[in-house]
Amino acid sequence: MSYPYQIKTAEAYEAAYERSVKDPEGFWAEVASSFLWRKRWDSVLEWNFSDPDVKWFKGAKLNITANCIDRHLGTLGNKPAIIWEPNDPEEHHRLITYRDLYQKVNQFANVLKNNGVQKGDRVCIYMGMVPELAIAVLACARIGAIHSVIFGGFSAQSIADRLKDAHAQTVITCDGAFRGNKEIPLKNVIDDALVQCDFVNKVIVLTRTHTPVSMIKGRDVWWDDEIRKIETLGLHDCPAVEMDAEDPLFILYTSGSTGKPKGVVHTCGGYMVYATYSFVNVFQYQPGDVHFCTADIGWITGHSYIVYGPLCAGATTLMFEGVPTWPDAGRFWDIVDEYKVNILYTAPTAIRSLMGYGLGPVQAHDLSSLRVLGSVGEPINEEAWQWLHENIGKGKCPIVDTWWQTETGGIMISNMAGVTPAKPSYATLPLPGIQPILVDENGNEITGNDVSGNLCIKHPWPSMIRTTYGDHERCRTNYFATYPDLYFTGDGCYRDENGNYRITGRVDDVLNVSGHRIGTAEVENAINMHAGVIESAVVGYPHDIKGQGIYAFVIFTNTHGDENLSRQDIMQTVARIIGPIAKPDKIQFVSGLPKTRSGKIMRRILRKIAENEPGQIGDTSTLLDPAVVEEIINNRI
Ligand code: WT7
Repeated sequence: MSYPYQIKTAEAYEAAYERSVKDPEGFWAEVASSFLWRKRWDSVLEWNFSDPDVKWFKGAKLNITANCIDRHLGTLGNKPAIIWEPNDPEEHHRLITYRDLYQKVNQFANVLKNNGVQKGDRVCIYMGMVPELAIAVLACARIGAIHSVIFGGFSAQSIADRLKDAHAQTVITCDGAFRGNKEIPLKNVIDDALVQCDFVNKVIVLTRTHTPVSMIKGRDVWWDDEIRKIETLGLHDCPAVEMDAEDPLFILYTSGSTGKPKGVVHTCGGYMVYATYSFVNVFQYQPGDVHFCTADIGWITGHSYIVYGPLCAGATTLMFEGVPTWPDAGRFWDIVDEYKVNILYTAPTAIRSLMGYGLGPVQAHDLSSLRVLGSVGEPINEEAWQWLHENIGKGKCPIVDTWWQTETGGIMISNMAGVTPAKPSYATLPLPGIQPILVDENGNEITGNDVSGNLCIKHPWPSMIRTTYGDHERCRTNYFATYPDLYFTGDGCYRDENGNYRITGRVDDVLNVSGHRIGTAEVENAINMHAGVIESAVVGYPHDIKGQGIYAFVIFTNTHGDENLSRQDIMQTVARIIGPIAKPDKIQFVSGLPKTRSGKIMRRILRKIAENEPGQIGDTSTLLDPAVVEEIINNRI
């Protein structure tokens, strides 16, 4: 395959960028031309940010799986589409060629159809990182069902909330998942969720761990049995359903500053174009490369850079079921060595945790196949950047620091490997087609260089969020109402003297813990579910490995008399309500919270205390009870 839109030199970047600003529609029409459309678009772009209403490639017809799979069969049929590395290195890996993938996706698409799933239906997928997860995602896309993948670490309650919001009647899951030395009973968690969701009428269960499960008559079926039924029926191919460019492809839930996660909706045409375009350009993908993105498909990174981007480009994508530190901290390097990985895309939190194990686990492996390294999810600190550069990239691999969001669908600001220069801890420059601007509190553009402000995007790009599922107004107020005619990212940002962007972190009440987005309100709601809790306030604080840790201030009626036990109970409550990823790192019991006279919690003050910078608290005279601050500072943990 060739990629006419691949930008290979700094000069070509400049030219493409300029063109994309002067003639966005011409630019994107050209990029989109190298994809497989059943019918071309009537117009490239129609938009307004006030509703918002954004339509890319209006009137065009396509199916993304024809681009990910069918179009490669002639040339790449025998090439591995997916390399799957199991949790346990002793277990056999799997190689799935493009031809195998075609067969498996068609087969499972027929299974879905045979179970009554139709175009536009929502299908929830809650599985571990097994190839069948990618197959299920693609099978949905093939028949036009809207997938909603839920990360395997979320609790039954979180799943139930998402199922209700999407009104998903079909669930695909596994009996269990292996993660390091743990076995997670996924089907049991689903069963707990479904107690609240009687509208779910079909659960398809893949065998992975042989964890005992209860299969409910009439509702639950085994993946393998369903495949056999399809074979008995003599069904092989499943025609790729013709989709409108603006038909929804998937929903992915993400946290915001309110307590309720939002279902970010992405559509077929624009998402396909941008995920692939950004994959090919940022990583400078070369035909034959093995691409290893260490994310989970439960997050947007996995959607765009394990499944859709790499497969549309005809790449070999490596899926890893396990964790970086089990059975030892050399697991990533082992995989790189064994499969001769060329592109490694990972998260700062993983790098920082591996740094703690020293160079021993690295030195035992040959990493010479690596050509490009990538980072995503949070700012990469200079120390981690240097460690990655020297010890993994051996000084010769460009590191791309990729800034983007669930809502943007693909990488927005990043250097392009070997094409535009890197600058440690900077995402650097926008991709051609992306127009970032910085604004002050009042929405006035901050021009010039060496300035800071709130990061917004002023022109649509193909993979931008279209709506929040079931609540378009929420999409408008969250992203398009803060500053008129701009998409607001929620991030603060600095632009240096050369125009390089450096993300400084969220400016809303959203935390970034190990690269995962968690709303403080969500954690507070979960903590407040505990019977002993009267009120709580949650803030972030710098954490050596996670980037940000969760610090909870809790007013508690201490019924046990044992503070540590109470802390554990609260942790358990949060794990139950949201999932283990949202467990507070620190819980401080307080007698009151700093509030204004109107009753608003002053998080700024709590943040300073959590960051251990009480000197910077500033004026507390407007507080209802200034004495409480003193008490909280003295009892800080
Ligand atoms: C938030 C989006 C995009 C996939 C992973 C997270 C932060 C993301 C970077 C980066 C600094 C980053 C931002 C952003 N973020 N990448 N390279 N440098 N910050 O997706 O859960 O939607 O979170 O992650 O704060 O808004 P997400």
